[in-house]
Amino acid sequence: MKVMPSKIQIAKLQTILDDAAKKAGALKLLEAGCGSSTRLTIPAGTYVVGIDISQSQLDKNDILDEKILGDIQTYPLEEAVFDIIICRDVLEHLSDPEAAVRNFARAIKPGGLIILALPNLRSLKGWITKWSPHWFHVWTYKYIFRRKHAGKAGFAPFKTYMRSSIAPDRLKELGDKLGLNIDYFQLYEGGVLRILRKRIGLMGPLWKVFQFLVKMLSLGRLDAEKTDFVIVFSKPE
Ligand SMILES: C[S@@+](CC[C@H](N)C(=O)[O-])C[C@H]1O[C@@H](n2cnc3c(N)ncnc32)[C@H](O)[C@@H]1O
Repeated sequence: MKVMPSKIQIAKLQTILDDAAKKAGALKLLEAGCGSSTRLTIPAGTYVVGIDISQSQLDKNDILDEKILGDIQTYPLEEAVFDIIICRDVLEHLSDPEAAVRNFARAIKPGGLIILALPNLRSLKGWITKWSPHWFHVWTYKYIFRRKHAGKAGFAPFKTYMRSSIAPDRLKELGDKLGLNIDYFQLYEGGVLRILRKRIGLMGPLWKVFQFLVKMLSLGRLDAEKTDFVIVFSKPE
């Protein structure tokens, strides 16, 4: 499968969102774990609801029409009210991601879309993230990615669980159980790895050798390049 860089992936999500807006007219959109901003351009006329567990993230977010301070695993979202639910880089931070996806499946309208974007547990980066302590994530953000506020309240990296239920195959199974269709699925190389590879010179043939070694040493279980994925579920009409 071809690996898409994250910028192309964002463009693809933008197209999905724009097409849905054309089809449905004014959309009601939920940004689940909205954080302080979005990388997508919200189509004109869209009513945007954001839910986040952090008040400081909600305070900084100025694209929202409505703000909910709550936990997406337990907050009683209204049934069948949203045309689109976007949950980007959040499921890996939950102790019970399945509960959140079930919540989305209830809150989405028939014909609506649930867009999930997250790290791939079956990648080397996903595996390291799962099994390394939080202080290591903070250290990496601070000294490798040079984010000076890393680890402070309200700043990434957030506590990470990477439950096995968020692996691509497991999420597909869950969608199936909940009666959702898969409209789109794509693995890709996330921006974080790309920056890191450039910084340490892991490019070209060297990168190919590294990928091969990861595959071999993990007995085919881990992929070095496909660090992230997007899955778009639709609820049948
Ligand atoms: C890595 S950020 C992603 C933010 C945003 N979705 C984006 O794409 O930039 C993760 C966000 O999830 C929020 N979050 C973590 N656990 C949550 C939960 N249980 N319920 C709601 N939001 C949560 C964090 O506060 C944070 O804003």
